[in-house]
Amino acid sequence: MYEEKISVALKAYEKLLREQLERNEIIKETKDFIDYKSLDKIIIGVCGGDGIGPVITNEAARVLEFLLKNDVDSGKIEFRTIEGLTIENRIAKMQPIPDDVMDELKKCHVILKGPTTTPQAGDGLPNIESANVAMRKALDLFANLRPVRIPEEGIDWTFFRENTEGAYAVGSKGINVTDDLAVDFVVTTTEGTERIAKLAYNYARNNKKERVSIIQKANVIKTTDGKFLNICREVSKDFPDIITDEWYIDICTAKLIDQKRRKDFKVFILPNLYGDIITDEAAEFQGGVGTAGSANIGKRYAMFEAIHGSAPRMVNEGRAQYADPCSMLRAAAMLLSHIGYINESCKLDKALDICMADPKMKITGRADGCSCREFGDYIMSTLVELTKSCKD
Ligand code: IPM
Ligand code: MG
Repeated sequence: MYEEKISVALKAYEKLLREQLERNEIIKETKDFIDYKSLDKIIIGVCGGDGIGPVITNEAARVLEFLLKNDVDSGKIEFRTIEGLTIENRIAKMQPIPDDVMDELKKCHVILKGPTTTPQAGDGLPNIESANVAMRKALDLFANLRPVRIPEEGIDWTFFRENTEGAYAVGSKGINVTDDLAVDFVVTTTEGTERIAKLAYNYARNNKKERVSIIQKANVIKTTDGKFLNICREVSKDFPDIITDEWYIDICTAKLIDQKRRKDFKVFILPNLYGDIITDEAAEFQGGVGTAGSANIGKRYAMFEAIHGSAPRMVNEGRAQYADPCSMLRAAAMLLSHIGYINESCKLDKALDICMADPKMKITGRADGCSCREFGDYIMSTLVELTKSCKD
């Protein structure tokens, strides 16, 4: 009695399989990372998104332009504003990233991206894929780096979240086989796992982090998580100087709140969905998702963003100008170090540490705290002070 429905579902499934096999082949073709030093000019795209996105992104771009002024003046760096990644425009075009916006993004080397609203089942908006997820896939930004640091507690974590596969690879292409049966798919590829594992281990080695933890649920999600674990284990063999341990995602989540144990974690490698969830938890210890930036790294492109959403409520309540730009500023610091401006990146992180700890400049998201712009000004004056003290 289900024959016809099953055969429709199988057709859709077959299409997914073909697309994923093709994707794995494309990954194999792209071997090397772009070398920013070899470029005459680095183009930084600034894409505000929607909700509070434009406010906090413009502030972070203003700080970046301030830090990079000399190279902007000499033409080594170009900033480009990219409009149109708003929920209204995406719905009007019925595309997660409208084609003209995508064309502009592809002309850049790195992108500073504000939060974008993601429709979810049941909210009355059309089923458009998240712009983040679409951009990560379209630009093949396979590694999502999310650092969380709490120096006074000895916490120094770097999460390497796989960013294009797992439950997200075909997240908006699940199949309602019948009214009673819905099926989603989880994807793990050899190439996709190998590249994130290598990046995480190389990062650990280059940054003198002694431990890498492979996080998964291979006792239950045996095929895809099992493959992820096995490939990470294989890669770990090339890094005998680094301690490798393995954790199921559930107990790892618990151990992050174990004061005695959590300091031992350093670098994590995780499939996409676990990485999504656990990095919100980790950011909460550091002061909330508003304090955490994220780098989405691919071989050709890279995109830097906040780890939180677009907070449309703040806009609806007329409070957008009080939005906290710290997550975008942290993302901007990651962008600087990614394109080779290590000193500027360190200085920005330092200025953020100072300004975020200052009770006089508290951001509350309301008129009783300082505004996004005031905070940006404070960061810039702190940067000037830091430069002076470095020269002394
Ligand atoms: C993130 C966000 C996104 C994700 C959402 C907005 C689709 O939560 O960047 O962590 O799930 O990846
Ligand atoms: Mg998330």
